[in-house]
Amino acid sequence: MECIPVASSWINPEMVDYVADAVAHAWYENANLYHERFEKAFSHYIGTKYAMALPSCTSAIHLSLLSLGIGKGDEVVVPDLTWIATAAPITYVGATPVFADCDEKTWCISSDAFQECITPRTKAIIPVDLYGNMPEMDAIRDIAHDHGIAIIEDAAEAIGSEYHGKRSGSFGDTGVFSFHGSKTMTTGEGGMLVTDRKDLYDRCLVLRDHGRAPGEKMFWNAEVGYKYKMSSMQAALGLAQLERIEELVERKRQIFTWYRQNLQSVEGITLNCEPSGTKNSYWMVTAIFDPKFGLLKEDIMRMMKEKGIDLRPFFYPLSSQPAYAALAHAQEAQVKNNVAYRISPYGVNLPCGMNMDKQKVEYVCNEVKQVLKGE
Ligand SMILES: Cc1ncc(COP(=O)(O)O)c(C=O)c1O
Repeated sequence: MECIPVASSWINPEMVDYVADAVAHAWYENANLYHERFEKAFSHYIGTKYAMALPSCTSAIHLSLLSLGIGKGDEVVVPDLTWIATAAPITYVGATPVFADCDEKTWCISSDAFQECITPRTKAIIPVDLYGNMPEMDAIRDIAHDHGIAIIEDAAEAIGSEYHGKRSGSFGDTGVFSFHGSKTMTTGEGGMLVTDRKDLYDRCLVLRDHGRAPGEKMFWNAEVGYKYKMSSMQAALGLAQLERIEELVERKRQIFTWYRQNLQSVEGITLNCEPSGTKNSYWMVTAIFDPKFGLLKEDIMRMMKEKGIDLRPFFYPLSSQPAYAALAHAQEAQVKNNVAYRISPYGVNLPCGMNMDKQKVEYVCNEVKQVLKGE
């Protein structure tokens, strides 16, 4: 067996043709042709009024915070278990991240923990649809609504997931997506901000174009803003990928099913959940191993690497990271967030790139079983 990477994308000749067309034609007065088609198709797919193509999901979170008027002195609640991109933009705007514990089953932010984190300074929550799993959105929305707290749904990892019939990304004041190379749908690098709120959409249009309002004369800037634009080539690839989104998501679900069939009989392995009323797009097939095996995620990764199989560690709690060492909230979270600190040391993402077939999944599962036996 050749080396098995943890992620890989699905690019077909039609998608390459779209990019080639953008390279040949989408310049200057035609520079936005693919953006317009991509954004329209994307908002239609998610079920929101507006969609804005951006260079990354991180920039989409940054613009969301800015457009909501969040800044110095404000607090924003985030799950302790996520990629730092969820939280870093909170620091960019001068606000403070507050790390909430995770739900035992979904691994996403727990609604009870969110409630406990609320103070008079809390202005927003950024729930994350972790690895494709959906958080308890109804409870989170009720609490946020009762306290006048804005929601930025970080659906970076969850295109195609659903909760009670609604698509991931459509639950907040804004929703944000990543099209990084590892994602189910990719543009190499890239992101999207979606919203139903015209006020936020209009504000983001200005902020992302160096403070220039759409239609304003050239080189005329009302304020100092940011340069957050996606290229035409990326937008063309995004459109082509979106046109195949059902197949991409189905492929992820098929890969997860093969894993479940192979691993469900092993006592002590917990895989991603799909509570009733939700659809999981399983961006990353994730396994948590019972501590009884006596193996930390780093041990498992090392042993699998020796067999030519690449894994990723479950995210480390943000509150444990050197980046937040000086933050009092992080020190409190280290003591409080029992679930996050219990799960993270024993979790890995298994190879689930678009190139995985049944035979490769069987091979990975057999090797996992060997590793658990200490072989
Ligand atoms: C949960 C989460 N949020 C945000 C991001 C940031 O996405 P990007 O790399 O497109 O900025 C990622 C990317 O991996 C992510 O996993």
